[in-house]
Amino acid sequence: MNIKYANRMKNIKKSFIREILKVAQNDKVISFAGGLPNARLFPVKKIQAASNKVLTNHGKNALQYSTTQGFLPLREYIANRYNTVCALNVSPDEILIVNGSQQALDLLGKVFLNKGDYVVLERPGYLGAIQAFSMFEPVFKSIPLESDGIDIDLLRKYMNSNKPKIFYTVPNFQNPSGISYSLEKREQTANIIKQTDTVIIEDDPYRELRFTGKKQPTIASFMDNKSVLLGSFSKIIAPGLRMGWIRANPEIIDKLITVKQAADLHSNNLSQRIIHQYLTDNDIDTHIKLISKTYSYQKDVMIDAIKRYFPKEVKYTTPEGGMFLWITLPDKMDSMTLFNKTVEKNVVFVPGLPFYTDVIENNTFRMNFSNSDEDRIIEGIKRIGEVIEKLQTDI
Ligand SMILES: Cc1ncc(COP(=O)(O)O)c(C=O)c1O
Repeated sequence: MNIKYANRMKNIKKSFIREILKVAQNDKVISFAGGLPNARLFPVKKIQAASNKVLTNHGKNALQYSTTQGFLPLREYIANRYNTVCALNVSPDEILIVNGSQQALDLLGKVFLNKGDYVVLERPGYLGAIQAFSMFEPVFKSIPLESDGIDIDLLRKYMNSNKPKIFYTVPNFQNPSGISYSLEKREQTANIIKQTDTVIIEDDPYRELRFTGKKQPTIASFMDNKSVLLGSFSKIIAPGLRMGWIRANPEIIDKLITVKQAADLHSNNLSQRIIHQYLTDNDIDTHIKLISKTYSYQKDVMIDAIKRYFPKEVKYTTPEGGMFLWITLPDKMDSMTLFNKTVEKNVVFVPGLPFYTDVIENNTFRMNFSNSDEDRIIEGIKRIGEVIEKLQTDI
């Protein structure tokens, strides 16, 4: 067979996480790998009630083709929530509804990236963004994350030397590290980007899942009109609905609408209306509190188990929200070797490798705490701890 694929396919790696998830489907396997919300908390009955209402009252419209930008009442809801909860000043015209924020990354790549353009991002960085942007064959430059956000001096340096098209950031409870930007770094980041032609993409699906610490403003609140802010219903309602949004100035939204038209005409009309009905009939803040409380507890269980079962030399982040924490093994240890050994003990996580672009660190890995209950977290950490200790003595 001699099938000729596009050149860009040479650079694309299959999502490593999807591969791990295949292993994790076996019930015996304790998985800290996927970025899955806890399905126990999905509001199944309420979504069912909302669906019934939409189909009963607006069935014909809900099943018809719709506008590319998205269902206006849902865009109004999103704009209004930004204005009340985030102290931003957003109009529904600045919102485009997309199939999860993952689609936003693809559309933004299409709108902004030519082959060889620079994309600056965090190290480690969100694997899904790396994968989406890779389709457009950019050059990645990563900047290390410190405990309070990106290394600001390097950001300034790379902005000046590389003149990137995009700076991509996840400032709240970042995937994969769990790290959040301090107020100072949010402001400093905005001030640096404002002096350049770079567009900032602020990917913010976890903002509402805060356990502790002070709520922080969006970087967008310090920005001018080169800011693109992404949001998602995946982590606060359910990812299977595939519903997210982009907030950007109308000029950028207009370009995005054109590429979205070409991609899929519009997002699922029925899903948009169901989500809007659900949000109208229920108190989303009560639901968000329940999710945050549950994940906060699971995070505490994981950290307590790490303290108990991992050797002291192993470092970990303590996220103030979200779904992940990040482990750094002693320098000489390789997380892929660890992974291959823990799979044999039916425990999986994501080795750091796919979260790196230009600079790779082999001794790191990502742990998800939202999708496992207490007993499995403790048992899983215990098994990983035993393998780390064994590897340490082998070195
Ligand atoms: C930082 C980040 N961005 C985007 C996404 C994609 O989310 P969705 O497409 O479900 O909105 C994820 C999912 O895990 C994420 O962690």
